[in-house]
Amino acid sequence: MIAVENLHKSFGPKQVLRGVSFSIETGETVAIIGRSGTGKSVLLKLIVGLLQPDQGIVTLDGKRVDQMSEKDLYEMRRSIGYVFQGAALFDSLTVAQNIVLGLHEHGERDQQLLDHEIRRNLMNVGLLPDPERVPADQFEEAYRIIANKKPAELSGGMRKRVGVARALVGQPRYIFYDEPTTGLDPITSEQIDNLVRDLASKLDVTSVLITHDLFSVYKAADRAIFLEEGLIRFIGTPDELRNSDDPVVREFIERYNVQGAAA
Ligand SMILES: Nc1ncnc2c1ncn2[C@@H]1O[C@H](COP(=O)(O)OP(=O)(O)OP(=O)(O)O)[C@@H](O)[C@H]1O
Ligand SMILES: [Mg+2]
Repeated sequence: MIAVENLHKSFGPKQVLRGVSFSIETGETVAIIGRSGTGKSVLLKLIVGLLQPDQGIVTLDGKRVDQMSEKDLYEMRRSIGYVFQGAALFDSLTVAQNIVLGLHEHGERDQQLLDHEIRRNLMNVGLLPDPERVPADQFEEAYRIIANKKPAELSGGMRKRVGVARALVGQPRYIFYDEPTTGLDPITSEQIDNLVRDLASKLDVTSVLITHDLFSVYKAADRAIFLEEGLIRFIGTPDELRNSDDPVVREFIERYNVQGAAA
């Protein structure tokens, strides 16, 4: 479970978060939405301890993230997968090397174990078929092809999937997605939304999804948090969001729908 209480964060004179409180239950998928610059990414960084709050409390599984030592943070991050905006893959490394980069950095050299993790997670994100449904040689051929590709040879949607595969290494209990569908066409976006939702149920992870995309909220999230001027303006289910009569929430939704229709 993730809990934040009365979070405040400023940069110089700019008050980004001005008292934000909520909790996320284990197994839940929660979307964080709001305009550009409202502090969504800052909030995510506070939760994983990449930033320190000026005031307030962050707990993950009952442990105070805001008071952790570097060593404890390092340990805690093993239970976390982070999908960076734009996938952030290393161009010079192959897909396989990108996926197990974190394990490699932690000193893991057991090639069999690394290989197993690469296969498991390529399957998890749908970049490899289910080995029970295709002949073994066909599976191995598919694996060899995708594992040895460089990011430049992949489509945008495939790169995002590899980013998710990397985040899943080590079997995290929490996954944080920062704008996983930005820049993708609607059909590929929907595939990523389905992936977020399927992983949440299949792997029983707790997911936090930052997004500009209301379709992602409707498709993948159990609840949404709408940030506005440093405070939570709305928190509730996607249906409640859709039916909200708060004028600020309505304006966001309607503006989005107009843009969504034009796109
Ligand atoms: N390390 C930092 N130093 C100074 N200011 C920062 C820092 N990180 C974020 N900010 C400021 O905090 C505000 C919120 O930034 P944040 O990245 O959280 O916005 P966001 O809601 O994620 O926006 P977007 O939707 O565009 O990604 C912005 O005004 C940004 O300039
Ligand atoms: Mg952001």
